[in-house]
Amino acid sequence: MLAASTPPRGRAQFHRYLAKYDGRAPRYTSYPPATEFTPEVGPETYRQWLAELDPGEAISLYLHIPFCKRLCWYCGCNTKVVNNQALISRYVESLREEMVLLDDALPGRLPVKFIHFGGGTPNLLSRDDLTTLFGAIRHVFAVAPGAEISVEADPSVLTPQWSTAAAHHGVSRVSLGVQDLNPAVQSAVNRLETFEQLKAAVDSLRAAGIAAINFDLMYGLPKQTVAGLIHTIDRALTLAPNRIALFGYAHVPWAAPHQRLIQATDLPDTDGRMDLADAAAERLMAAGYVRIGMDHFALQEDPLAKAAHSRALRRNFQGYTTDPCPTLIGLGVSSIGRLPQGYVQNASSEIAWRTALDQGRLPIHRGIAIDAEDRFRGDIIETLLCHLGVDLEAVCGRHDRTLDHLIPERVALADLVHDGLLARRGETYHVTEDGRPFLRTVCAVFDTYRPESAQQYSRIV
Ligand SMILES: C[S@@+](CC[C@H](N)C(=O)[O-])C[C@H]1O[C@@H](n2cnc3c(N)ncnc32)[C@H](O)[C@@H]1O
Ligand code: SF4
Repeated sequence: MLAASTPPRGRAQFHRYLAKYDGRAPRYTSYPPATEFTPEVGPETYRQWLAELDPGEAISLYLHIPFCKRLCWYCGCNTKVVNNQALISRYVESLREEMVLLDDALPGRLPVKFIHFGGGTPNLLSRDDLTTLFGAIRHVFAVAPGAEISVEADPSVLTPQWSTAAAHHGVSRVSLGVQDLNPAVQSAVNRLETFEQLKAAVDSLRAAGIAAINFDLMYGLPKQTVAGLIHTIDRALTLAPNRIALFGYAHVPWAAPHQRLIQATDLPDTDGRMDLADAAAERLMAAGYVRIGMDHFALQEDPLAKAAHSRALRRNFQGYTTDPCPTLIGLGVSSIGRLPQGYVQNASSEIAWRTALDQGRLPIHRGIAIDAEDRFRGDIIETLLCHLGVDLEAVCGRHDRTLDHLIPERVALADLVHDGLLARRGETYHVTEDGRPFLRTVCAVFDTYRPESAQQYSRIV
């Protein structure tokens, strides 16, 4: 691996890189990024795209549950605080109606291999809600035996009863939000969660037979220190999670106004963020976790680590995944779907989403059709994000193009090679250890949409 043979340089060098290459860029969970979606793609286009799907090809589902018991001030997700279970059950009923509309538009009962429940806090769904939802899913779709069914969950509200019900319906993986267990950090972001709550959640999931456990950790939060984060990691590792996502806090108060409740003066600066990220990564790798892509770690025998090893790793709206299905159908407020023809996004407000359903319309508000050029560039960007490197000749071959198609991009890459952020062998480029924090900078070289809208994104480093 070229990356391993390139020793990292010091902080002075890092600051030179920052001055030249830092900026803003999408997280590239899709290409083109969601900021490019427009109302030109609406329910009619979606209906046509759905009708054209191959009824024999397996698909994936994403269901968004936009409710939480509390509002964590750092949170960038589309969610709101709800303390009334009836409102959640009403939402589930609307999800069922959305599936009825989809049933009408799809060319058959499509096989499903991956289902992901995101949020918000999907473990706020009651046993009855889960029964309604899984009943509707299995009615409209043919859930394959052994399908991966994963759920994002808040450990502080996870009950043993929920674990049992989830396991009963086939849930096989749960991602628990940990972030940071230090009370000073927790009170600076309004998220109190004890180690005991986390342990009880893990124990109840395992007791119910849900063996695959992911933890979400964050760096770059207010009041965070390296020693405190390492202490969090050491405690978390005593529970032996299968995967860990280590997210850099994205401070985007223009998109998530409640983030203004975080005191900007309490946030670590860029050096502080790097110290946190580096120390956390080092600790996780020393504990035997394989580093994957930008921000994931997994035990060697976990399917994500195996997929990274065999170059089968993919990236979608949920981040890094083993899911290879070309079609992802999104359900619920603000959820994004990917079809071979392009991307679609549901209405972001619950009222607009529900109004569409009441009127018998698929609740799509925007999207984008993709062409061969988007697929080509999306392939390069996904390959870079998954493997920290790309063989441009191979990608050109897959998309019936020659290297001449990428003349300005290769000039930009030569600059990155010269500065030591990339290593090059022939037309294969690999991100060096120095280049790792600038991976999105490298991806942005291939992004033809970015220049007009870069200000909307989070900082790269
Ligand atoms: C949709 S949340 C669901 C987790 C669950 N509700 C909980 O809080 O435990 C998934 C993860 O996104 C991450 N996250 C949320 N806001 C973020 C932000 N602004 N920047 C980076 N990561 C963020 C957190 O690590 C969180 O656990
Ligand atoms: S981090 Fe989880 S619990 Fe907190 S507001 Fe976001 S989705 Fe809700």
